[in-house]
Formats: sequence, C-alpha cells, structure tokens
Amino acid sequence: MPNLTILPTGKTVIAEAGSSLLQAILAAGELITHNCDANVECGTCHVFVHEGRKTLSKMQRSENAKLDAVVGVSSKSRLACQAMLGSEDVTVELLGFGSGR
Ligand code: FES
Repeated sequence: MPNLTILPTGKTVIAEAGSSLLQAILAAGELITHNCDANVECGTCHVFVHEGRKTLSKMQRSENAKLDAVVGVSSKSRLACQAMLGSEDVTVELLGFGSGR
C-alpha cells in the first residue's frame, strides 16, 4: 500500500494501489476540482507529481491530448483522474483553483 503525500498541506495517507490519484486525494479529505467526473474532458484535475511518477499508470493518448490544452503543464503534470497508483509512494501537488484554497 503506497503512501500518498499531498501538497501544499503535506498530508500523508495510506492509499490503495490501483485507485486513481483523484480517488485517493478525495479519500484523504482534500479538495480537488474534477468537473467531468474522470471522463478526461475538463482537465481541472491537473496535478504535479513530484515523487513516484514511475509507479503510476502510463499516460494514455486521451490524457496526453487533454493536457496539451491545459495551461501550465510541465513534465510533472498528470490528470489525477487518469493516473492509477502503483505500489510505490507518491507525492502530488494540488494546483491553484484545484487545491480549493
Ligand atoms: S476530472 Fe475531468 S479530466 Fe480529470
């Protein structure tokens, strides 16, 4: 079971391997915008993955295409609804409006 650390609060929780980052972030009680409910249509669940990128599921074409339309992407960008947790620890940063703060 991987540890998931969520920035900027720094909260760390034990997450379930195979769940999406979005599910794990919500289960941890953090606020993250997810306007299309994981249908890869909105891009509002954009996060930066600082640690553990390689343990996450591979990026699919639909996620890559949606990220192309999102402002402020970097090599650390993932859509939280599409990235599935593996067995290693992950640190994510909630961004801007998506952090709910
Ligand atoms: S919730 Fe819309 S793309 Fe992730």
